[in-house]
Amino acid sequence: MVAASRVPAALTPGLPTLTSTRPRGRGEDEMIQMRDVVKTFKNAAGEFTVLKGIDLAIKRGEFVAIVGKSGSGKSTLLNMITGIDHPTGGQVVIGGTDIYKMTESQRSLWRGKNLGIVFQFFQLLPMLTLLENVMLPMDYVGLYDFDERPKKAMQLLEIVGLEKQAHTLPLAVSTGQQQAAAIARALATDPPLLAADEPTGNLDSRAADAIIDLFQELVENGKTIVMVTHDPSITARTSRTVTISDGILVNEIVAQALPLLNHSQMLGITRTLERRVYQPGENIIRRDEHVEHFFMIEHGEVDIVLQGKRRDDELLARLGPGDYFGEIELVRGGKSIANVRAAVEGPVELLALSRADFNQMLDESPLTQDAISNVVQERLKEHKAVDRRKKWKLLG
Ligand SMILES: Nc1ncnc2c1ncn2[C@@H]1O[C@H](COP(=O)(O)OP(=O)(O)OP(=O)(O)O)[C@@H](O)[C@H]1O
Ligand SMILES: [Mg+2]
Repeated sequence: MVAASRVPAALTPGLPTLTSTRPRGRGEDEMIQMRDVVKTFKNAAGEFTVLKGIDLAIKRGEFVAIVGKSGSGKSTLLNMITGIDHPTGGQVVIGGTDIYKMTESQRSLWRGKNLGIVFQFFQLLPMLTLLENVMLPMDYVGLYDFDERPKKAMQLLEIVGLEKQAHTLPLAVSTGQQQAAAIARALATDPPLLAADEPTGNLDSRAADAIIDLFQELVENGKTIVMVTHDPSITARTSRTVTISDGILVNEIVAQALPLLNHSQMLGITRTLERRVYQPGENIIRRDEHVEHFFMIEHGEVDIVLQGKRRDDELLARLGPGDYFGEIELVRGGKSIANVRAAVEGPVELLALSRADFNQMLDESPLTQDAISNVVQERLKEHKAVDRRKKWKLLG
């Protein structure tokens, strides 16, 4: 088990610091930039494209889950980030370094210094103690004086709650503890980025929870973590979820707004969307106008406003990224019951789905249809309540 509370690394003198203290310039917020990454495998049966043009940006300090069905390309995607495999096309920039511009041996050293990797099956060396396993990456990149390494490794084992097991062989501790030791090893060179492929896939739920606690703590201390997982209870604890379906990324707003679609339905929607931008305060839908689109908010905010005869505006709701509107009119077939505008604070980027595509989506996903019907009912109730209040105000 991983200890519940640990000493913050920054307060422990001599410990490799877990907080990234490098000054950040413009554009330095990106930890990972993948641009149009394609990966094709060739075998006897021919060519097989597993990644079909991945564009993905991950900022420093994010805790990102990568999810997708078996065979969708999750591990292949992670291997493009770790440099374990190389892309057929496109670019991968990590911490400002284009990692496929290096030679294989340069990349290997770069990986040792900049990246911690955690696997589903730990991959600790069975004949070395936990402490010796943690020291290995230090040896590989030549970090710290030889005599200093055991102390540094011990401090990392303390962070993951394994100081008492330091001199034990991996098979003599639980699977959860083996994974905690593997994480300590991944931290050995104090890399800013951790990449993990199903790190809890071989653990029971308590041990899995402890590993995610540890990851959350590392993220709070400035690490960036990208983790492949199958487990929905884990994605609830990350700061962001990236969904891959058949080698293509699902739009994250679609996945957030319409979580009850299956992944290939999400991908279908991603492909049919139209992007629209509105300036601060600009009208998106006027009251009594016909509505022909279902809108999801990608960036910025919109105001849903009721306008009275005396031109007194009443703000019904403010919606933000991941929220949607237009569904009431599409479901009921009527005209708009309110004004929708871009909030004055900034421009709004919307993802628009046509009426026909919206209807098709509801036909194909009864769960989404139910969820949207519930939202329609809730919003109509709210709308009526505000309308009634306005009428009373007019009378008074
Ligand atoms: N080295 C390889 N050579 C040929 N095909 C490969 C290779 N590695 C992966 N593939 C194929 O690429 C596809 C995606 O594999 P990948 O391992 O990325 O999937 P995954 O999403 O991680 O699946 P899982 O959830 O089962 O781990 C699969 O069809 C797999 O068979
Ligand atoms: Mg995999």
